[in-house]
Amino acid sequence: MHFTGSNYSIRDEIKNFWSDRAATFDESVGHEIYSEAEYRGWKRLILKHLGEGRGQAALDLACGTGVFSHLMHDAGFKVTGLDWSDAMLEQARSKARHRGAEIRFVAGDAENTMEPPQSYDVITNRFLIWTLVDPIAAFNEWFCLLKPGGKLLILDGDWGKESWIKKLQKAWGRLSGRPCVAGLSSEMAERHRRIREQVYFSSSMSAEAIVALLQASGFCDIVVDRKLMDIHIAQARKMPLLRGLDCMLYDRYAISARKPSLS
Ligand SMILES: C[S@@+](CC[C@H](N)C(=O)[O-])C[C@H]1O[C@@H](n2cnc3c(N)ncnc32)[C@H](O)[C@@H]1O
Repeated sequence: MHFTGSNYSIRDEIKNFWSDRAATFDESVGHEIYSEAEYRGWKRLILKHLGEGRGQAALDLACGTGVFSHLMHDAGFKVTGLDWSDAMLEQARSKARHRGAEIRFVAGDAENTMEPPQSYDVITNRFLIWTLVDPIAAFNEWFCLLKPGGKLLILDGDWGKESWIKKLQKAWGRLSGRPCVAGLSSEMAERHRRIREQVYFSSSMSAEAIVALLQASGFCDIVVDRKLMDIHIAQARKMPLLRGLDCMLYDRYAISARKPSLS
């Protein structure tokens, strides 16, 4: 479905884009996990920044089909996954039933969740920040949702900065009349481009820009972690050569932060 009427907002456009991708989202390497090595990489990262779950309450924002929610559940957290796309949530719930994992999945907006203040020990999100309309509102909301001393873990990357491989692929696409954007049809690629033009981080999204916004929202102990090579290599091994190389060239990062404890 694709509307463009005057009441149709950028938020509707983002929601519909992801809903239309839900059925095939997990087919892409980099979304669902396709090797033990990648699974171990993500688990290592979670343990490094958040420690063992031991039943602590975790909120996985923009959970999509629930890939990261399941990793958090496996690490021992009591997980709520939140997404505003019903189609994504349907996939996430069906996967949880299939795996016998008790994860609560709820519909909501990551910028205004309607969850109770100070109700989570941990908040995570993977590949959400770049598609936020108002990250400042979002970071303030997450600060409010965390208990004092609670932790935030962000996984994302500077997707706006195209590698030389992507530039070559695009130039070839234009010459050959077959525009290519990693697995997207030209209609979906055009919708993706329009969304990118309207979101807050429309050109580039450096880790440092995110850190500055997190600091302004009151977060402390902020760490930018780019030691993700085990994950990147495991993913690249499952991709066609050029796509794997392209993925390795992006600036991908984890950012962890903490809400100050009460003194
Ligand atoms: C790239 S997918 C990532 C899904 C999942 N986090 C993962 O890593 O597999 C982006 C997801 O963010 C969701 N999303 C985008 N903006 C959102 C918002 N403001 N509130 C809730 N969900 C949002 C979309 O519906 C989509 O499921």
